[in-house]
Amino acid sequence: MKRITILGATGSIGSSTADVVLRHADQFTVHALVGHRNHQRMLQLAHALKPAWVIMTDAQAAAELQGNLPDGCRLGSDMDAAVAASTDASVDIVLAAMVGAVGLPAALAAVHAGKRVALANKECLVTAGRLFMQAAKDSGAVVVPVDSEHAAVHQCLVGHDAGSIRRIILTASGGPFRDREPSTMEDITPEQAVAHPNWDMGAKISVDSATMMNKALELIEARWLFDVAPDKLSAIIHPQSIIHGMVEYTDGSVVAQLAEPDMRGPIAYALRMSPRLASGIDFLDLATRGRLDFQAVDEARFPSMRLVKSVLAGADSLAVAFNAANETANQAFRDRRIGFMDIVRVVEQVMQGCEDVSVHSLDEVWSRDHESRVMAESHIRRIT
Ligand SMILES: NC(=O)c1ccc[n+]([C@@H]2O[C@H](COP(=O)([O-])OP(=O)(O)OC[C@H]3O[C@@H](n4cnc5c(N)ncnc54)[C@H](OP(=O)(O)O)[C@@H]3O)[C@@H](O)[C@H]2O)c1
Repeated sequence: MKRITILGATGSIGSSTADVVLRHADQFTVHALVGHRNHQRMLQLAHALKPAWVIMTDAQAAAELQGNLPDGCRLGSDMDAAVAASTDASVDIVLAAMVGAVGLPAALAAVHAGKRVALANKECLVTAGRLFMQAAKDSGAVVVPVDSEHAAVHQCLVGHDAGSIRRIILTASGGPFRDREPSTMEDITPEQAVAHPNWDMGAKISVDSATMMNKALELIEARWLFDVAPDKLSAIIHPQSIIHGMVEYTDGSVVAQLAEPDMRGPIAYALRMSPRLASGIDFLDLATRGRLDFQAVDEARFPSMRLVKSVLAGADSLAVAFNAANETANQAFRDRRIGFMDIVRVVEQVMQGCEDVSVHSLDEVWSRDHESRVMAESHIRRIT
């Protein structure tokens, strides 16, 4: 029996994880469910999964649950409790699916504690990839990707020589605006941006998908997860989201992973690779699907994919700024304070004022993260 803590349990990845775990109640038991504000959803999850702990990092949301949890379930109400639930000696696996850099302390604590860390929360690796992967090496923690593209690449690497990798190729759906006339993109509303054609995801990542900032973040994530030089990383638009990732080897062979787009697949793989767990996703019927299409990424339509090149070529401070500015601008767009195309403009402005230097400690990550959020906010105020 493996014992699991789910960070971000009340979100989209959290729900898919709950589904996989409930399918295998004989193999997984839940130590803790961690949410932030959505206490109604947490109440449902707590009664379905019967965890030892429920933690809401928002104290007011935690108070709403007082007296309503299943018998014996304990209640925590802050990030310290989330960190404790990620490092508890009884825990084998931490599924990290909070959204944003706010998830870093609990995920990194799990890494320091040597857990198996199933990582959906890509912002952890974007902001502190070097420190995160070094901590895993030091503690023996296994970091397994949940992001479908990285889970695909992980599978394409098994049994192959790392020195023979020519290119890692992440696929991108291109989001809802893949074919939209660039001159009309200023008018895009938050409702249009969160309506993803293939994936049902949280609001922040849906907007990131629409700006292709998500793919940009994923390229940075891949650099750390797979320890490859940035010039070996690329992305291609594949509207059907059936091929999730590919690895091209030096002999010209390309190994790809295909599956229906459903996050329960990569989650099941991250929880247990071998033997594989039934995930509940539909089996792929390629004859019914009929065709798979591909197109190059258009950097004029998606300037985030141009910007990420300088982030990948530069030192760690650029990635911290890139992520922090994006989180701030993405939220400002969802709050209708700025337009859709302003998101990447704000990120670019922050990048222009950012030092390109190595980052050696978590304190430094947080101070640069804070500084970049302040800069992003001042650019946003100038627009609004
Ligand atoms: N959804 C996908 O298909 C998908 C695919 C690949 C990777 N990812 C990555 O997985 C992560 C989660 O994505 P998602 O789509 O599941 O997001 P989501 O549906 O918005 O869920 C986010 C989770 O984080 C919690 N949270 C929000 N703010 C928080 C805070 N300040 N402190 C602590 N917890 C906080 C939320 O709690 P409450 O809701 O209770 O407030 C919720 O449990 C992201 O990093 C995303 O990039 C997602």
